[in-house]
Amino acid sequence: MGGYRVAILGAGQQGMAHARAYRDSANMAVVALCDLDRDRLDAGLRELDVRGYADFGEMLAREQPDVVHAVTVPSIPRAQWVQPAARAGAKVLVIEKPIALRPKEAAELAAAQETTGLPIIVNHQRRYLPFLDRWEELQAGDALGDIHFVRAATDGVSDMATHLMDLVLAVLGDQPPVAVWATAGGACEYHDPTRLCPDNLLATYTFPGGVRVLFEAGTTPLGTSDFPGTGGRLAGVPGSVMSLDVWGTRGRCWWRERGSWGYQTEGMAQPHIEQTSLGQAMPRSFQSIAEWLERGTPHRCRLDLAQVGFQALIAGYRSALYGRRLEAPIDSLELTDAEWEALREQVAHGWLDVREAAAELAVSEAMVCQLIERGQLQGHQPVPYVPWVVRQETLAAPALRAAAQAIEAGSPARNGSG
Ligand SMILES: NC(=O)c1ccc[n+]([C@@H]2O[C@H](COP(=O)([O-])OP(=O)(O)OC[C@H]3O[C@@H](n4cnc5c(N)ncnc54)[C@H](O)[C@@H]3O)[C@@H](O)[C@H]2O)c1
Repeated sequence: MGGYRVAILGAGQQGMAHARAYRDSANMAVVALCDLDRDRLDAGLRELDVRGYADFGEMLAREQPDVVHAVTVPSIPRAQWVQPAARAGAKVLVIEKPIALRPKEAAELAAAQETTGLPIIVNHQRRYLPFLDRWEELQAGDALGDIHFVRAATDGVSDMATHLMDLVLAVLGDQPPVAVWATAGGACEYHDPTRLCPDNLLATYTFPGGVRVLFEAGTTPLGTSDFPGTGGRLAGVPGSVMSLDVWGTRGRCWWRERGSWGYQTEGMAQPHIEQTSLGQAMPRSFQSIAEWLERGTPHRCRLDLAQVGFQALIAGYRSALYGRRLEAPIDSLELTDAEWEALREQVAHGWLDVREAAAELAVSEAMVCQLIERGQLQGHQPVPYVPWVVRQETLAAPALRAAAQAIEAGSPARNGSG
């Protein structure tokens, strides 16, 4: 124990989870906690036995920590933590995902790192899962052959999708994609200031070497279903929110959050299967900060790698805005803030899926389906057998709410029959 002194900004749920993980990390010791919220700070201090502060600047001035970990939400742009931490002599700044909500904020973060020289780590700690160690061994032995297809599925973009894109990049060698074609949705999350909006993305990416990636971030991700112990669809499975499948010419490999990971290569009669344990990743990631500082072993969660993932997601948004396939160089796939706002508008005024319509009407998804089936709400299927979508403006009709109330009250009423 002992070693590097860590100051944590943010005593929220995640700040406290990280503080506990530092306790399990060799050579790292949390010495201070800061939060504007007095109740949260007091609760954190009761548990941690460290010094507490309500003011970030004061914590830095008094503690002069080696590591500053800002566990705050992205609606507070993260670049603002860089200068103060650098001035206080910190050796590393750790931040959370997503690195930004708007493209410009990500650029400001990179510029702050460049200007101050303070190395930034993004807490994409899944890079320290045993799955990725084994992946590297398999790749070193060329066990999977040429990788040609990856399927990646999870929930919203601003939540788990930044972790997932980070894993996609990790298995594909941290190269940016060379092409993307995507659709976007998810206007129902616009009320949440911490969300990247739109929050749903369905994209095909092409990576160097022609590797295709089907990337799903949304409410109905397919996920892994065909390996033992991995269950069925991701959608509706509580806590099972991420999966990654990688196909090579001589083998396949998969990883699923809160499920299993494993692989099967040529000549193996059975797949190798292990349970995923997220708890292992965080302490290893924190411990690796010390290894980075002492031995120069590059940390796997450096900002420059997270930037590639963020840009890949943003490139997906740009493709969705223009409705066509875009090709690299990746910089040209970035989105301006004006384009960003245009996409938000486009999605907000476009079609809503059943979940979004239910949120807007404040009824259940089953109720929206009933309204569509009864012809009281006009549903559309862009192609046969895909989920229904509805025009947002049709939800404003007063008759619709009356119809929903009638169904709620058990009325058998159908369209036109009262
Ligand atoms: N890496 C992971 O595995 C993982 C998991 C969950 C969440 N997260 C990320 O962690 C981040 C934080 O999540 P959370 O749920 O703990 O957020 P939160 O909003 O509950 O907690 C943040 C805390 O920071 C405090 N704060 C903000 N600005 C401050 C300032 N200037 N001075 C002092 N205190 C300040 C707030 O008062 C709040 O208590 C999010 O970006 C989230 O996406 C990461």
